[in-house]
Amino acid sequence: MVQKNKNTNYSFTSYIITKELRNDPEILSITRSVANLVVESFVDINPGLTVESYLKHIDKITDKQPLYTEVIKNGNKIIGAIVYTNDEIIDIAVKENYRNQGCGKKLVEKAIYNIKETISKQSKIKTKVFTPTGIRLFKAEGFVPNYYGSSEKSPYLVMEHEIS
Ligand SMILES: CC(C)(COP(=O)(O)OP(=O)(O)OC[C@H]1O[C@@H](n2cnc3c(N)ncnc32)[C@H](O)[C@@H]1OP(=O)(O)O)[C@@H](O)C(=O)NCCC(=O)NCCS
Repeated sequence: MVQKNKNTNYSFTSYIITKELRNDPEILSITRSVANLVVESFVDINPGLTVESYLKHIDKITDKQPLYTEVIKNGNKIIGAIVYTNDEIIDIAVKENYRNQGCGKKLVEKAIYNIKETISKQSKIKTKVFTPTGIRLFKAEGFVPNYYGSSEKSPYLVMEHEIS
């Protein structure tokens, strides 16, 4: 069992996934690990999601624009990840045993910082949130609810963060 407040030894790594780079063995391996984490974390929300369908979704996005990923590792093991474009947070997931230690908060903060400081000229960051924990996390990081929507799988809340 992982103890709370012991996360100082976790390491963070950033990756940029582009159409040209997405089949590079290192990028593909990271993307597959992130896909596994997302599929396992969203099993209650979207039970039909598979690694292969997630990878297709990633390919669709990277056909048009770069995708950014921040991962948290404990040793070599990926325990959390956030995936985003220059104006949208696409997914965030932390492995169940590593939740409630601040990993989610750090991932959101890193994504906001990177979007604000280096990659975006947009005025807002948006995200679709499917869970109460997600809503609390994004609210705490300055996102405000905008509107409710629904995919064929489940309802979601669109939240937005102004870039000042
Ligand atoms: C949402 C998710 C990414 C949050 O990850 P996390 O690493 O647990 O997030 P944090 O630890 O930063 O914050 C979660 C809670 O832990 C608390 N916490 C943070 N650091 C803490 C610490 N050191 N000690 C005790 N509690 C702590 C936070 O206050 C927060 O409490 P709250 O739920 O009452 O608001 C994770 O629950 C997850 O992967 N869920 C499944 C997928 C999902 O819901 N994605 C999000 C939206 S679609």
